[in-house]
Amino acid sequence: MGYKKRKEGVIMEQKRENWGSRIGFIMAAAGSAVGLGNIWRFPYLTGENGGGAFIVIYLGCVVFVGLSIMIAEFAVGRRTSLAAVGAYKSYSPRWTFAGVLGVLSAFFIMGFYPVVGGWALAYIFKSFTGLLGAPEAIGDAFGAFIGNSVEPLIWMVIYLAINVYIVAKGVAGGIEKAGKILMPMLYVLLIVVAVKSLSLPGSGAGLEFLFKPDFSKVTGQTFLAALGQAFFSLSLGMGCMITYGSYLNKQEKLPNNALIVTMMDTSVALLAGIALFPAIFAFGMEPAAGPGLVFVVAPTIFAEMGGMGVLFSAIFFLALMIAALTSSVSLLEVVVAYLIDERKMARKPAVYGTAIVMAVLCILSSLSLGALAGVKVLGVGFFDFFDILTDKIFLAIGGMLLAIFTGWFVKKEDLKDELTNGGTVSFGLFEAWYVLVKYVIPILIGIVAVMGIMAIEQTSLMIFGLLIIVVLAIFSNKL
Ligand code: PHE
Repeated sequence: MGYKKRKEGVIMEQKRENWGSRIGFIMAAAGSAVGLGNIWRFPYLTGENGGGAFIVIYLGCVVFVGLSIMIAEFAVGRRTSLAAVGAYKSYSPRWTFAGVLGVLSAFFIMGFYPVVGGWALAYIFKSFTGLLGAPEAIGDAFGAFIGNSVEPLIWMVIYLAINVYIVAKGVAGGIEKAGKILMPMLYVLLIVVAVKSLSLPGSGAGLEFLFKPDFSKVTGQTFLAALGQAFFSLSLGMGCMITYGSYLNKQEKLPNNALIVTMMDTSVALLAGIALFPAIFAFGMEPAAGPGLVFVVAPTIFAEMGGMGVLFSAIFFLALMIAALTSSVSLLEVVVAYLIDERKMARKPAVYGTAIVMAVLCILSSLSLGALAGVKVLGVGFFDFFDILTDKIFLAIGGMLLAIFTGWFVKKEDLKDELTNGGTVSFGLFEAWYVLVKYVIPILIGIVAVMGIMAIEQTSLMIFGLLIIVVLAIFSNKL
């Protein structure tokens, strides 16, 4: 059975799509990593968790957990030339569930991500149509907008349609091309806004908030939030980087690529912080404003800038939309790759079918902020349900499973072979990486998960999430 699977894998490898160039791969992988997680979520989590101390813990998670896991995902993906599910399955059907968990995570993230992507799209246009005219009303306008039963749904559908268009065109023609054009554009746009923000009088307090840690604000929840954010932001723990790695050619140095992607992701998050917090403090606004932070604070800042503000606002939300797009494209691709590899579907029907299901989840999420606000699943609305389930439970556990799989089940020589391209390039930190992946990371994630589970308010949701994983594991052979 195992042999037949492997044989199929080899046959498929021949007609498998590949990245067109190295820079194309990096832009696509960085495009996946850099997203709403960096510009929308990182700033508001930082604000809610007290600033500098959160950033320090977050950076620790990125360096010691995220980077290692990314290297491991690239290695597993390229070794097997298979997307997440196939990669695990080719080792043993017992492990199939870990890949399926990833596909499920992608589905659930896409249950709310396009909603926020749609908001960003809408705000590009709203920048020009009077949003900035009444700065005091921007907060209420945002609340009214996201609570509306029709308007955000239309934007979400347009946003999702752009994703479908890109992913239907395939790996090199669609995903790679989009990343190559959109990622550099994003950097430039963010730098423009950051420079403007830093030039405001009183911006220093914002920098202090960001970079002067106050550890008295740290709790078990802070660690879970930081770890979950590291996984979310780096697109880890759900097979996305396994899938992207599987399209990568054998000459690429995996650790180098992982380092570049990680640095790009982290720099955009910090840049977003530097774009927002100095201005938040300069204008005396509330840093812990939650998910509405960028959508309320940023337009208010731009409104205060006068004439040019409209342009800055449109640029900012264009950047946000671009960042989101290259990420949701990768989420869609994870599910599509599964359907192509494992279910033998053609690309186009796989893309269309998947997107329709995601649209339904998104409609529920969007309405849960308005018309369906009263409907609770395990104590929270649909939007929070999909968000908490993935970011607090599935991704971290998915990362832990990957670490255990890589450290304890894949042969050490195979890993070394893959990470040194068959001994032709060096990876001096191999042993350190191996110890991290094999021992440190599984234990660390275990501790943080337990701390977080005990601290979280939605106990039933936590138990539900873990139950899904256990059920998947039990029926792994049948998946
Ligand atoms: N990394 C993306 C972001 O920061 C989200 C994402 C998570 C994308 C998981 C793919 C996989 O917005």
